[in-house]
Amino acid sequence: MAFNNIDLKPYNTFGISVHAKHFSRFANVDELKNLLIKFAGDNLLILGGGSNLLFTEDFDGAVLRNEIKGFEIIEETPDSAIVKAGAGEVWNDLVNKCIKHNFAGIENLSLIPGSVGASPMQNIGAYGVEIKDVFLELEAYHISSGEIHTFDNKACEFGYRESVFKNKFKGQYVILSVSFKLTKKPNLNTSYGAIESELMKMSVTKPTIKDISKAVISIRKSKLPDPKEMGNAGSFFKNPVVDQKVLDEILKTYPTIPNFAAEPGKRKLPAGWLIEQAGWKGKMYSQYGVHKLQALVLVNYGSATGKEIYRLSSRIIKDIEEKFGVTLEREVNIL
Ligand code: FAD
Ligand code: EPU
Repeated sequence: MAFNNIDLKPYNTFGISVHAKHFSRFANVDELKNLLIKFAGDNLLILGGGSNLLFTEDFDGAVLRNEIKGFEIIEETPDSAIVKAGAGEVWNDLVNKCIKHNFAGIENLSLIPGSVGASPMQNIGAYGVEIKDVFLELEAYHISSGEIHTFDNKACEFGYRESVFKNKFKGQYVILSVSFKLTKKPNLNTSYGAIESELMKMSVTKPTIKDISKAVISIRKSKLPDPKEMGNAGSFFKNPVVDQKVLDEILKTYPTIPNFAAEPGKRKLPAGWLIEQAGWKGKMYSQYGVHKLQALVLVNYGSATGKEIYRLSSRIIKDIEEKFGVTLEREVNIL
């Protein structure tokens, strides 16, 4: 069933109230096909959990919410397992199911909001793991030809918060299912320092994947706002990857700037640190602002508009450019 002039506030974690001309849901490929016929010629937005979007105006088109469910163990050996999940499954439910089966590989990605289908869009990542590390393949509906195409890891062209679906195939595919290759002989990833110290706090010396998940959840809860309590879409900006010589220049004035490995000749800088140093952390403007515990997160205190938050992000980008000579890029999809 399709609805007209629907308020999208419940469908985006920023809690922005804008209206969609049409809104509908699909739970399988046939329903998707019917909707694509019905709304042929309209602008389309395929929606998952709405946790990586900022609506800056009403959506003049059809918002189609992916609700394709399913969890299957495709193959299991003594060492590994292949699981396939419907794109409309909640990501964190998949993480929990895998932990229950003792399938390791995505426990560091616990509590990331959103759907399984959106996870390859930006190659979600946290605490030393990205989905590209365990991704096997996905099935996607090619909107213009009506064909279902399979993409393996290489074909997705994953990068830091990037994939082919955000770039050359933007708007062309609907992801239907995603398969992951997980291991039953976990090689635990505790490289993110905070995990080690959290495990120590928990008095865990021989961690299981469930312990890693608990540690990650605890760290996340300590700094990231819960969208149910405060509108947000996680990190608003990506961490900039800059040439070593740009970092060397910044180090002359800010010798303590944290920086991390990236591709050869480049370093990744924490945007949260830059934004904090520039004095934005915790800034409040009536209904919106910069989170007080994590400067990378812009927040809606209740009734902000997407335009206000977008304008704040532009002011931050300009200021960071002026102060550090580094251009921040938005991670969140702007609509
Ligand atoms: P949506 O916001 O609904 O959609 C995002 C984009 O993907 C849109 O362009 C949409 O059109 C497209 N899309 C969605 N589903 C499909 C589909 N099936 N087929 C084709 N296109 C589709 N991200 C991280 O990487 N790491 C983190 O640690 C992290 N932490 C977060 C913490 C918080 C509190 C919040 C609110 C967000 C966080 N995010 C993080 C961002 C977000 O959770 C992820 O990007 C997530 O994958 C988005 O999923 P979604 O279903 O909500 O996507
Ligand atoms: N920092 C500050 N001030 C801040 C925030 C961070 O100085 O206000 C510094 C920290 O001290 C640390 C560094 O920045 O030295 C990195 O901080 P943190 O570990 O919190 O990670 P992040 O870079 O802010 C990234 C991801 C998150 C992911 C975490 C954990 C991006 C854009 N963000 O955040 O992903 O959960 O690492 O791996 O890469 C998301 O994409 O939405 C997201 C939340």
